[in-house]
Amino acid sequence: IERVFSGIQPTGNLHLGNYLGAIVNFVKMQDSHNCIYCVVDLHAITVPVAVWGGPDALRRNIREVTAAFIAAGIDPKKQIIFNQSQVAEHSELAWVLNCIARLGWLNRMTQFKEKAGKDRENVSVGLYDYPVLMASDILVYRATHVPVGEDQKQHVELTRDIAQKFNNDFAESIAAQGFGEAFFPLPEPVITGPATRVMSLRDGTKKMSKSDPSDYSRINLSDDADAIAQKIRKAKTDSEPLPSEEQGLEARPEADNLVGIFAALAGKPKPEVLREFGGSQFSEFKSNLVDLAVAKLSPITTEMKKLSADQAYIDAVLADGSERARAIAAETMTGVKDIVGLIRKR
Ligand code: TYM
Repeated sequence: IERVFSGIQPTGNLHLGNYLGAIVNFVKMQDSHNCIYCVVDLHAITVPVAVWGGPDALRRNIREVTAAFIAAGIDPKKQIIFNQSQVAEHSELAWVLNCIARLGWLNRMTQFKEKAGKDRENVSVGLYDYPVLMASDILVYRATHVPVGEDQKQHVELTRDIAQKFNNDFAESIAAQGFGEAFFPLPEPVITGPATRVMSLRDGTKKMSKSDPSDYSRINLSDDADAIAQKIRKAKTDSEPLPSEEQGLEARPEADNLVGIFAALAGKPKPEVLREFGGSQFSEFKSNLVDLAVAKLSPITTEMKKLSADQAYIDAVLADGSERARAIAAETMTGVKDIVGLIRKR
């Protein structure tokens, strides 16, 4: 059976990139797969406390991401929605995988290099180890598919390398314990749709991100209709009309980005959007984009705000999801301990 796992950090400012690059695909995959969607709170605390905001902000943001999952259409009764820190097996497996992953592999991670910047001596050990915890998130469920945005591709590839090395290093023991040829499946990144890398509205060469100091660079899932309209109207463009074919978007990053956003929101491929708007001025295209974005996002925003205010409901969803997740994770850890030779209580 195919099992889907993915996670989102509760660091505030969920934005259109998270929605179109990840959450939309989470919703789609639930029809055909068993899905586990995780609020990765242990990943959120890898940056300085002042950045993630402290305990009150963390609690609020965990509940907000949970509410966003449900508001976007993920059914918490059919799928598993939970927060990472409630299932201790993530951290437990991370230690074993720390002993599998090589320093050289982590040194190649581009997201670490970006986030650490110049002051490497001063970042947390957790930030460096972040990709191994992410590998544990996926492998503790022996997930086969991982829907993510383009920026997480390298981390999923690292997860495959870690899984493969574990399978190789312990091949004999894996067979002896009755698990056959391999214990961990090699998970596939699922990076699909016209918006796998949503760019900043102010600069088409920069990724839309929650850490950009300009709020005009992104559409937050908490923005109201007026804010969405203003941000789209102010979005950077060039002065040419829209092209009618996709090649015409090359070397026009801002135009390409807005067309991709339109396509993803409309659920259409980009060429279809260009057939409709080729030759139009941006003013006209943007007013259509405003209407579409407001129509698609406002109901989610309203529902998300309503749900995240219902603390008891959200906490119950997380507790129930964690219990179901733990049942799967505990079984994996039992296998890992037996394979490695760590004696456990029987
Ligand atoms: P995070 O919280 O930064 O982002 C959550 C998801 O949103 C996607 N995303 C984007 N997609 C398109 N355009 C953008 N501008 C954009 N910005 C963000 C991300 O690719 C991601 O899919 N490391 C992960 C969280 C994580 C995880 C996991 C994911 C932890 N463990 C296990 C999958 C499986 C992260 O930082 O996502």
